[in-house]
Amino acid sequence: MNGNEITHLGVVGCGAMGQGIAQLAACAGLQVRLHDMRPEAAAQARERILAELEKQRDKGRVSDAQLEQARVGLLPVEGVQGLAGCQLVVEAIVEELPAKQALFRQLEALLGDEAILASNTSSLSITAIAAACEAPGRVAGLHFFNPVPRMRLVEVIPGLATDEHVVERLLALVRRLGHQPVRAQDSPGFLVNHAGRAYGTEALRILAEGVAAPAEVDALLRDGAGFPMGPFELMDLVGLDVSVPVMESIYRQYYEEPRYRPHPLLRQRLAAGHLGRKSGRGFHRYPPPDAVEQPPIVALDGPRMPVWLGLDEGFDAALLRPWLEGLGAVLEEGKRPSAGALCLLAPLGLDATEAALHLELDPTRVVAFDALAERTSHRCLMSTPVTRPDCLEAARALFAADGGKVTVIRDSAGFVVQRTLAGIVNLACDIAQQGIATPADIDLALHLGLGYPLGPLAWGDHLGAARVLSILQRLHALSGDPRYRPSPWLRRRARLGLSLLHVDAPFQGER
Ligand SMILES: NC(=O)c1ccc[n+]([C@@H]2O[C@H](COP(=O)([O-])OP(=O)(O)OC[C@H]3O[C@@H](n4cnc5c(N)ncnc54)[C@H](O)[C@@H]3O)[C@@H](O)[C@H]2O)c1
Repeated sequence: MNGNEITHLGVVGCGAMGQGIAQLAACAGLQVRLHDMRPEAAAQARERILAELEKQRDKGRVSDAQLEQARVGLLPVEGVQGLAGCQLVVEAIVEELPAKQALFRQLEALLGDEAILASNTSSLSITAIAAACEAPGRVAGLHFFNPVPRMRLVEVIPGLATDEHVVERLLALVRRLGHQPVRAQDSPGFLVNHAGRAYGTEALRILAEGVAAPAEVDALLRDGAGFPMGPFELMDLVGLDVSVPVMESIYRQYYEEPRYRPHPLLRQRLAAGHLGRKSGRGFHRYPPPDAVEQPPIVALDGPRMPVWLGLDEGFDAALLRPWLEGLGAVLEEGKRPSAGALCLLAPLGLDATEAALHLELDPTRVVAFDALAERTSHRCLMSTPVTRPDCLEAARALFAADGGKVTVIRDSAGFVVQRTLAGIVNLACDIAQQGIATPADIDLALHLGLGYPLGPLAWGDHLGAARVLSILQRLHALSGDPRYRPSPWLRRRARLGLSLLHVDAPFQGER
């Protein structure tokens, strides 16, 4: 143990988060004093933590030694004075700036000069909390995620005045607790709650534009892109009463930056009480109604319609042609489609109509497929407003030929997966550009904190930065919506053929 190591921790606020933090620290062998303004709350929290740890011990997830350490280490105290002697106090009290400032002022007078004051706030400025203190250099954010013992990510957030050695002690503590720290600048939403904005807001736009239903969007992003949960399922799980204020607050704090724009659909649903799982109805119903039997996609009678393939230059014909032939497509070789051909297009960031007009094709024979999500079990098609039904059916039958699921959405630029992934990558690039966190920490945080299969920057590399840039440029041009304007971080790296994780300057400069 070195002299800087934190051995005595105070936790103020014994709700969901305070209990989780205390449990984690006690299991790691720290002496933990628990305090809450409600009488008996700290003692009850200790009982609940020990009961939970006993359950975990019975399942073999916690050792007898850890349980014993927690029994000895957890000490409820009734007054704030009981926290004297702690080297670190983490507050997880009500999310109100005056309450947190008042608590830290009280603690400052009580604790030694070297003691650290950390806030678990999810939305308040660390700099603003610290501004109330005599010594703001000892104040930092220590943002855990719920449930604390299972969510391994912790954001360590220096305010503008925080001393570097405070940050370092907190980073070391998080590692000792067995969790993964990332360092994030004090900015609205910090890292995870900021970077996570792209997913739900894009899904809301897709719904509001009448492109696809919530269940279709969820399924395409889960099965077609690998997200652990669809965006509407996620909003239903969290509850709109919790998520709408967060979305609106981040939007306002960034002075109405269009990338974070929520949608009026949300307030309407909130007014109707469609909060999500907790109210039995959100974007989905709970429990779900019996599934409606879908009509099977039948192989078409007679000879197959020949297929003329029009790939965006961002796609590789050498990869896609054999895949389509494997599904049974009879592909034409000519530069122009024959009179009877289905025109199958793979656009990037365009809708089927624009893609058809761009290639001067007859829009009645055009069907577009999302080749960014090719070879997944869930394929997405869209037709122009005038596509012939027999052409659309031929395309559906082709993409379902190996048992894959096919969803047909209304014509719209960027399908569902392309526009959502491009938005996520673009926002992560903006966050890297602003220096809110290092590229590596951005990826780590979204992988651990939101369960994305890949960090957004590595994901952008996997998709191809140039392709992501094309999607965004076209979405921006077609919609005129500044939310799609490409981040300079993305544009430069795409143009130079660099990884999106590439760092071009020393990172630690002051803003
Ligand atoms: N719940 C989450 O998912 C989550 C995730 C990350 C961060 N946070 C943040 O953690 C903090 C706590 O959240 P929670 O969900 O655990 O809340 P909670 O309502 O479950 O618990 C808060 C506890 O603090 C106590 N309290 C309130 N004011 C106090 C004061 N002045 N002094 C002492 N005790 C006081 C309350 O009695 C209560 O027991 C908030 O700042 C919140 O934004 C919450």
